[in-house]
Amino acid sequence: MSERAGVRAVKAVIPAAGLATRFLPATKAVPKELLPVVDRPVLQYIVEEAASAGIHDVLLITGRGKTSMVDHFDPHPYLESRLEAKGDLVRLAAVRRTSDLAEIYTCRQGEPLGLGHAIGYAESHVGDAPFVVLLGDEFMEETSTLLTDMIDLQARTGGIVLAFIEVPDHEVNRYGIASVEPFEGHDVVRVTGLVEKPAIGQSPSNLAVVGRYVLPGRIFEAIKRTKPGSGGEIQLTDAMALLLAEGTPVHGIVYRGVRYDTGMPLGYLQAVVQLATKRDDLGPAFSEWLRSFVGGNPV
Ligand code: UTP
Repeated sequence: MSERAGVRAVKAVIPAAGLATRFLPATKAVPKELLPVVDRPVLQYIVEEAASAGIHDVLLITGRGKTSMVDHFDPHPYLESRLEAKGDLVRLAAVRRTSDLAEIYTCRQGEPLGLGHAIGYAESHVGDAPFVVLLGDEFMEETSTLLTDMIDLQARTGGIVLAFIEVPDHEVNRYGIASVEPFEGHDVVRVTGLVEKPAIGQSPSNLAVVGRYVLPGRIFEAIKRTKPGSGGEIQLTDAMALLLAEGTPVHGIVYRGVRYDTGMPLGYLQAVVQLATKRDDLGPAFSEWLRSFVGGNPV
């Protein structure tokens, strides 16, 4: 069952065609992937995460009102020449960096019929090779090697590789949860089952699936066999469960670093504050203001 083991994923798919209802009304006209975290859109952090794992071929699955996402990664010669003329070399480098990160390809999911349905559109771009999926509203701290570790593991096992975080008992009902057995060390597990949003007290573990996947090409055929599930949508979890039941190996890496979840206002605000305090240019002044504000003395 480890057919194509040894082949490393070299392409990424970012599904970004969802309705982003948890962030309305901001996301009525602006895609949540373009919300700024300090001075970069969420999507740039995600493409940077892919690039630092050696992935420079990125397919964005877009939908209605989402085309501006692609513009962010285009070269902008006019803007660049204006910055150059002004001698603003720092901003010039920042603007150029966006178009140097990766080759961006796009396709459209006409209707948001589910994450599995969205991934199905990637078939003609990735073919039967393994590929990475990065959800468009979360990213890991810059120093994380999670994606590289996942790609390495997938190349060895040939199956599906998931990323987990450990969640407290009272939060299991918000996530897909895995039943697992040990595989390598503490943090690499073999997945024996997946359950979507289990009731509190009935969860097989505290390991919650987060938005990074490395999938084998055979996922496309499984998606085609997947019937609409929760919410009437074609769910990626259901397609993965089909392959698991048929013997495809599924493994997971438990991620213990910082994860920024920008899909709803609370996580978004936390990401902005954490990343702003880490910045060399803004961090000292912002942290000082924040301490004063939290202490009841806004300045
Ligand atoms: P979410 O579950 O976060 O859904 O999708 P959403 O629509 O983006 O946001 P909420 O829950 O309504 O607030 C996970 C990822 O899958 C993409 C989303 O864009 C997001 O990156 N997705 C989801 C699609 O591309 N198409 C779909 O049909 C559904």
